[in-house]
Amino acid sequence: MLDISNAPDGTTDAMIRLTGVTKHYEGSDAPAVAPLTMDIRRGEFVCLVGPSGCGKTTTLRMINRLVEPTAGQIWIDGQDVTHSDPDQLRRHIGYVIQQVGLIPHMSIGQNVGIVPSMLGWDRKRISARVDELLELVGLDPSVYRSRYPKQLSGGQQQRVGVARALAADPPVMLMDEPFGAIDPITRERLQAEFLQLQERIRKTIVFVTHDVDEALRLGDRIAIFAEGSRLAQFDTPLEILTNPADDFVRTFIGEGAALRRLSLLRVGDLPASVDSGEPVDLTVGADETVAGVLEKMLMAGAERVHVAGGATLTVQDMLLATALPKHPALR
Ligand SMILES: Nc1ncnc2c1ncn2[C@@H]1O[C@H](COP(=O)(O)OP(=O)(O)OP(=O)(O)O)[C@@H](O)[C@H]1O
Ligand SMILES: [Mg+2]
Repeated sequence: MLDISNAPDGTTDAMIRLTGVTKHYEGSDAPAVAPLTMDIRRGEFVCLVGPSGCGKTTTLRMINRLVEPTAGQIWIDGQDVTHSDPDQLRRHIGYVIQQVGLIPHMSIGQNVGIVPSMLGWDRKRISARVDELLELVGLDPSVYRSRYPKQLSGGQQQRVGVARALAADPPVMLMDEPFGAIDPITRERLQAEFLQLQERIRKTIVFVTHDVDEALRLGDRIAIFAEGSRLAQFDTPLEILTNPADDFVRTFIGEGAALRRLSLLRVGDLPASVDSGEPVDLTVGADETVAGVLEKMLMAGAERVHVAGGATLTVQDMLLATALPKHPALR
């Protein structure tokens, strides 16, 4: 069992903690989830990626107790919820799935208000919350509140799914390929919007995706599962691209690790070159990504840029500073 908890003495700020969590479905020899131990911090956005059948969905569904673990323990916010009342638990955990699962004969407003109604909120409070949430996910309440699910596009339905999961302001959100069935352009827009939303709401999110680029873009950390739910690596996008743990991870992240890193690295973090005193063509902010700055330099035909408050860099400086450590086989 791979133990990746961040404080071995047990004192962590883990919001979700899995210890030795295992699932054996009846009738199958191999476990769907082998003993899995991981900590997810408060406010962290963690992506789970891995090949089909490696146990991602099962893992999510054990966290909200839609699937009973065969062994192990699940802690949420310091409480062992392995044997708590599943209905109670699910009110504190938002759940978004690819098929969205909006109830067809209920209006969008009623769909978003399901959990608050179950919690016994009064009509006025529910209605105000529904409008607030529709606004939050970018749907004008006066237009969409009284529509029905089939009158919305796939992307709009997916936003309603997110709004519904957020309705009772749960600290934890579980999302199982929420953008999986959406065309690439809408998907990128939803990803960008969702990142901005997370900046504001700071939920603890566990997000399953098949798409490595989606994981690299969204996750604070990414858990890469191999066959048999072996946790191959659990780390930040930058660390995974820079130091893949093994050949499985290397193959899984695929081509282009070096170029992808350029979208994660910021020019302000690169070592300053000796300033030759030559004129600069362009000034950029320290927060801008290396990829963004290279793009600007290519567009402007610029040879050197000045990073506000810092270094002067040439393309050569940037490429050398961002080069990957050599593959062990090439050393
Ligand atoms: N209800 C079930 N009964 C029996 N076996 C199941 C059940 N649900 C899932 N499994 C099996 O458990 C394993 C893990 O399934 P799971 O759905 O968690 O995978 P996944 O990583 O989410 O895959 P995908 O990427 O295709 O969604 C698979 O081998 C699957 O066949
Ligand atoms: Mg799945």
